[in-house]
Parts: sequence; structure tokens; C-alpha cells
Amino acid sequence: MTKQTAEIDQLYGGVNTFTGIPMQQTWTAIYALNRFIQNEPDLVRIVDLGSGYGGLTLFFGMCMKNRGGKVLSMDLMNLYFNPVGLVTFRKIDIFTPEAIALVKKFLKAGGKNLIFCDNGNKPKELDTYGKLLKGGDFIMAHDYKTEIMEEEVEIVAQKYGLEFYEQELFGGNTHIVSLKKVGK
Ligand SMILES: C[S@@+](CC[C@H](N)C(=O)[O-])C[C@H]1O[C@@H](n2cnc3c(N)ncnc32)[C@H](O)[C@@H]1O
Repeated sequence: MTKQTAEIDQLYGGVNTFTGIPMQQTWTAIYALNRFIQNEPDLVRIVDLGSGYGGLTLFFGMCMKNRGGKVLSMDLMNLYFNPVGLVTFRKIDIFTPEAIALVKKFLKAGGKNLIFCDNGNKPKELDTYGKLLKGGDFIMAHDYKTEIMEEEVEIVAQKYGLEFYEQELFGGNTHIVSLKKVGK
């Protein structure tokens, strides 16, 4: 355990890391995300909202690097690893017009996109970013059934034409809800 990881471990009473970088995900979540990404070869861009210390961001970065894809990650605080060459990181409030414009620009190219919502207000995040998806894109939110309830997901899903997708993969203790935008 590194000095930084030990400090976080003390603060939060236990922490997972991905290759030594703290992450606030279970290993079941990483297993499910890994399978999901491998099952979607056309997925070439990930927007990581709420990078935290960066363990999950690093995982996403490695997944996309291996297929020539890209990751845009945003948080109010800095990452615990150097993202250069792997992930584009912006220290920014994700609800600002500037952040939303950045994501819109990032999502413009071809291929499929995944937006992963894990900041402090998941219902607002899903609502703000769910509307940016094109048909075939994905959106997920962490802390499903604790910080974002099924009814809240259903409201946004109806509003923007999203449907639950591969949710059986995200059972157990992944705490993730997975949605896909209907249409082309
Ligand atoms: C639960 S942590 C993210 C954990 C990370 N996704 C992981 O799996 O390791 C939530 C993060 O959201 C960030 N956050 C909260 N509100 C935000 C906002 N409005 N804009 C950007 N980041 C925000 C916090 O700084 C915190 O790092």
C-alpha cells in the first residue's frame, strides 16, 4: 500500500485500488464493466463523471487505449495518477455550461459512447447528460438503489428514450444501473 493509499484507507476505513490507484468501486463492478466493454467493440468513447482518486478512470483509460478509443474524465479535485496519454482530465464542475459543451464536443465523432455518472448528484447527472446521447449510446450511474432510485431512473429513461440494458450483468454488488438509448 502506498502512503497516499494508506491515508485514504484510514479516512474511508477501507479502499479498493486499481493497480494501486484508489477506486470507489467493488471488484464485481470492475468485472461487469470489463465484460460489458469487451462485449461492445464499437464503444470508443467514455465520459467519466466524478473521477474521484482515479482508479476507475485508469481502468477506463486502459480499456479504451487498447482499442484506440478515448476517455474524458472530470472532477472538482485532481486525480492520483498522471493521465497524460491515457485520459483527458478536466478539473471542472460537471454541471457548468462549459463542462456540458466539452462533453457534447467529445461525443460528436462516430462509434458508440458511454457516459458513467458517479458524482455527488446522480439523478441530476443522469438528467443533464442523458439528453446528449445518440441512438445506441450507453449511460450508467453508480450507487443505484441508494443514491439514485429505480423511479428516478425510469423518469429520465422515459424522457430521453433510454432502456435498461444488460442489467443482469450489473446485479450483485456492482451498484450500477445500465441504460441504452433506443434507435440509431
Ligand atoms: C464517489 S466519487 C467518484 C469515485 C470514482 N468514480 C471511482 O469509482 O473511484 C465522487 C466524485 O465526484 C466529484 N464531484 C462531486 N460533485 C461534482 C461536480 N459538480 N462536478 C465535478 N465533480 C464532482 C467529487 O469530487 C468526487 O471525487
